[in-house]
Amino acid sequence: MTSTPIISINHLGKSVRLGSDNLTILEGISLQVKAGETLALVGASGSGKSTLLGLLAGLDLPSSGEIRIQGHSLGELDEEGRARLRADHIGFVFQSFLLLPTLSALENVMLPAELRGEQDCEPRARELLAAVGLKERVDHLPPRLSGGEQQRVAIARAFMTRPSLLLADEPTGNLDSKTGETVIELLFDLNRRHGTTLVVVTHDLALAQRCQRQLTMAGGRLQDDAGVDARVQPSPASVR
Ligand SMILES: Nc1ncnc2c1ncn2[C@@H]1O[C@H](COP(=O)(O)OP(=O)(O)OP(=O)(O)O)[C@@H](O)[C@H]1O
Ligand SMILES: [Mg+2]
Repeated sequence: MTSTPIISINHLGKSVRLGSDNLTILEGISLQVKAGETLALVGASGSGKSTLLGLLAGLDLPSSGEIRIQGHSLGELDEEGRARLRADHIGFVFQSFLLLPTLSALENVMLPAELRGEQDCEPRARELLAAVGLKERVDHLPPRLSGGEQQRVAIARAFMTRPSLLLADEPTGNLDSKTGETVIELLFDLNRRHGTTLVVVTHDLALAQRCQRQLTMAGGRLQDDAGVDARVQPSPASVR
């Protein structure tokens, strides 16, 4: 473990033009996350959690401020550099899963490792799919899977490269409590065994409380470490 934080966010802002208005989605976000930490991001719907996660993955660019992942400033990397950083260090599970519809569950899970040129990815991919309870579904295409099944494929895929940073947006959102518990165990197992840093957006209190830190977002801002009860606050993004 190095002293450089795995995530360093400084005065991050994101706004988009909406007609003649400027919609502020994120404002004044500064945050440091140490390697191996587990962090839950909670907050009302629309408070900016997914937007922040997308920026952390380098899938979207901020309007102001800076994000460093393992010392690399995302703004100084080009598209290809960000893709490489993602491939080398980051696993992610997004709300919309982002599975490739024409690849089977197994092929989707193998893909990130294959893109890195790893050989013999299939046994591990099968193992991960079995671990999320999808042993019998490996050959299915995503459109033939239920929402919860697709979510579990996305989770297996995120684990495939044993990333140093895992970004997960509502990883238990579509799952029944038993399957959700399995996924939570897998997340923390990855953290324990490989020191994977977890940043998890969740409305699931049990999952949030298992994380070492809980941060609440409201109206595009990060609140102080205030526990997990601020989720009921209304937090519309401000139009100006
Ligand atoms: N590209 C965009 N253009 C306009 N508005 C956007 C864009 N992306 C996000 N927003 C708005 O920014 C706000 C934050 O969205 P975000 O998806 O980050 O919320 P969230 O906290 O993840 O919510 P949820 O819990 O419902 O998933 C919302 O009001 C959303 O409509
Ligand atoms: Mg969201």
